[in-house]
Amino acid sequence: MASNKNIVLIGFMGVGKGSVAREVLKYSKYMALDTDDVIESMENRRIKKIFELEGEAYFRNLEKEVSLWLQNSVSDTLISTGGGFYKVKNLKKIGTIVLLDSPFDEIIKRIKNHPNAVNKLKKRPLLSDLKAAKKLYELRRPEYLALADVVIDVTKKSAQDCAKELLKKVKKYA
Ligand code: S3P
Repeated sequence: MASNKNIVLIGFMGVGKGSVAREVLKYSKYMALDTDDVIESMENRRIKKIFELEGEAYFRNLEKEVSLWLQNSVSDTLISTGGGFYKVKNLKKIGTIVLLDSPFDEIIKRIKNHPNAVNKLKKRPLLSDLKAAKKLYELRRPEYLALADVVIDVTKKSAQDCAKELLKKVKKYA
């Protein structure tokens, strides 16, 4: 178990990592950060632009850089990650891994029902082709499950309920 006492939220694009993280903050003393936000600040440009102009491999290298910083310099923080961040080699050394889990169709429904759905889809390059995204989901899900210390099924639950469940379940890792 990592000594940093971070909580690392992993899960597929659109599953609600940001929404659950914001609720967790209301009920706990964690500080929070989001790996995609850190990367956008480092680069001073949007993820979508980074993918378009530099390609995915370049983005994955930035994730690696961020993962080393998290391991070495960040503690007591709730860390939301991009859907592919879990691939970094040192994930387990960053903190307790919490997977937000839901079936693919439910995740897509959740995004489409969001008042800002168009933007939510537009900013995620890997969701532009839903067939390919489903394949990616099927490939990743067993890998997410294998890494997770805690799994929260978020299907049809409010972000608030998920946050409360999360805080209860991570207690034993504190
Ligand atoms: C990605 C997920 C995105 C973002 C990038 C790549 C992925 O983050 O990091 O577009 O590989 O699943 P969200 O999971 O917050 O959408």
